[in-house]
Amino acid sequence: MKPTIAPFPAARPRRLRNTPALRSLVQETTLSVGDLIWPVFVREGENIEEPVPSMPGVVRRSVDRIVEAAKEAADLGIPVICLFPYTEGDKRTSDCAEAWNPDNLSNRATRAIKEAVPEIAIMTDVALDPYSDTGQDGFVIDGYVANDETIEALVKQALSQAEAGVDIIGPSDMMDGRIGALRSALEGAGHKDVALMSYSAKYASAFYGPFRDAVGAAGALKGDKKTYQMDPANSDEALRMVERDLMEGADMVMVKPGMPYLDICRRVKDSFGVPTFAYQVSGEYAMIQAAAQNGWIDGDKAMVESLMAFKRAGCDGILTYFAPLIAKGLLGR
Ligand code: PBG
Repeated sequence: MKPTIAPFPAARPRRLRNTPALRSLVQETTLSVGDLIWPVFVREGENIEEPVPSMPGVVRRSVDRIVEAAKEAADLGIPVICLFPYTEGDKRTSDCAEAWNPDNLSNRATRAIKEAVPEIAIMTDVALDPYSDTGQDGFVIDGYVANDETIEALVKQALSQAEAGVDIIGPSDMMDGRIGALRSALEGAGHKDVALMSYSAKYASAFYGPFRDAVGAAGALKGDKKTYQMDPANSDEALRMVERDLMEGADMVMVKPGMPYLDICRRVKDSFGVPTFAYQVSGEYAMIQAAAQNGWIDGDKAMVESLMAFKRAGCDGILTYFAPLIAKGLLGR
């Protein structure tokens, strides 16, 4: 399709920009509450909401408070809540056994939400970093994050999450072959309808810093994640990762981080036409909030613009810490 535009003054593109009514009429992209996935941090205890200093406005909640938050999100029409456990030192071990403990924090939160707020879908992360003493997403053997040994643990972790009742599993570990292994394990265990949203194009990024504070991994992390997360310089590779994950049984794919990788979102959507998501990560959130707190940008407007950009780039939805805030804005509450 060739764009057509008449020469000035036959064409005055400003004609269609002059009033809110006309702007709304020709708006190409829309953002709605149904596009949002809300990542939240869960911690032990009761009746606790503890601020995460590097993510202004974000808190870690005890399970009872997470249930209330899920209820609030469901009332706003947010379709999915995504749980991340904050783990204390003694839960981090070299065998990562807490990851598949049926009664771990994440699984308890899942059951509590399922019971109280059945209408919201629950997503969980599959990766060992909340449970490893190294802060890495897999087992470190001889100084290297071992692929195949890690997959065995990820399968156990995913099965315990499915057993607890999650709707969507998000493998964020970037091990090779994990989607196929998870898919066949889920099928084998009768969890046929648990969806996989693969972190297919996950980059080794500096923008995850505040998240690592939020889940207690910052102090634990030794080294970097460059032997499994992708090089920010690469784009063709992202398409290969997405294709591979789709072949192995992913239902949805994700690009992460978001805003610096909008080109990847667009290429993925155009190449495969599958449900495509972006994760507006902790560092992106923190940048907007920090600038807004200093009065350097209008935080509300920057939030809306940043999220609209994902839709324009072809994403079907966005994981964002702004979810409740933007939902209230969209609903005029
Ligand atoms: C863990 C995981 C990370 C994030 C989501 N899952 C951090 C990492 O890979 O180090 C980052 C989310 C964010 O920054 O908001 N595998």
